[in-house]
Amino acid sequence: MPFKLVMEQISKRKNSRVILALDLQPDNPETLLKKAQKILGAVHMHICAVKFNRHLILPLGLYNDVQRLVDQAKKYDLPLIMDCKINDIGNTNRTIAEHYFKAGFDAVTANPLVGWQDGLQPVFEVAEKMQHGVILLVYMSHRGAWEGYGQKVFNENTGEIIPQHRIFAEKALEWKADGVVVGSTYPSKIQEVQLTLKNEVPIYSPGIGTQGGIIEAALKNGAKYLIVGRTITLSQDPSKTAEGIKLAAQTCLS
Ligand code: XMP
Repeated sequence: MPFKLVMEQISKRKNSRVILALDLQPDNPETLLKKAQKILGAVHMHICAVKFNRHLILPLGLYNDVQRLVDQAKKYDLPLIMDCKINDIGNTNRTIAEHYFKAGFDAVTANPLVGWQDGLQPVFEVAEKMQHGVILLVYMSHRGAWEGYGQKVFNENTGEIIPQHRIFAEKALEWKADGVVVGSTYPSKIQEVQLTLKNEVPIYSPGIGTQGGIIEAALKNGAKYLIVGRTITLSQDPSKTAEGIKLAAQTCLS
């Protein structure tokens, strides 16, 4: 089943739009693994997927202790997203995607800036073959995002000046991406991207809480999933915090 549909079904079944970014601060690998297992165990009923980043892959190892977390997430029926932001030449990109998919991840993030031919095409091919997903960065959540994603680009053929993120959103449609990332810190960008995507490609929105993004603004402007890291992982009570975000999202959409 395409990753887009997997996410839709799980999100409905769990009545949650929350994706946990399982990001922990540096620690010794044994403590790190235990902390990650504990948080995942505490919040799994309130989330619809888990997103990994280098915080755990680097110290724990993709084919080593990370596998224990992959197994734990699978036990809870949670899809796994690797936020690796693939951004290289095609041969390298394919290798990166193959490793993450072989290791049990269901989707990877990638940067559309590298283009299709000998860029992201091999990633989409591997994903299709293995029935996995590719999520494209369209407008990032951090303060400096405007320097890249917010640039205006001159189209020589039409003479139009187009914002970079609109071009990326159009590529997401053309390449049949399973999702795009737009920061919750920029609700107006979510709205603009949603106008291009028209619900065909779901918007994943990081930046809720710690980075200043607001649940209601993200969802009302068109985000489908909320990616939340430190607000949950650094909370005194991760389960209660995750539940609170899940319920707040339900209220916004009711
Ligand atoms: P916090 O702690 O800020 O963590 O809730 C957010 C998580 O999401 C990642 N992140 C992004 N990933 N595009 C992405 O693909 C983005 O614009 C973006 N902003 C944040 C971040 O690395 C962390 O894992």
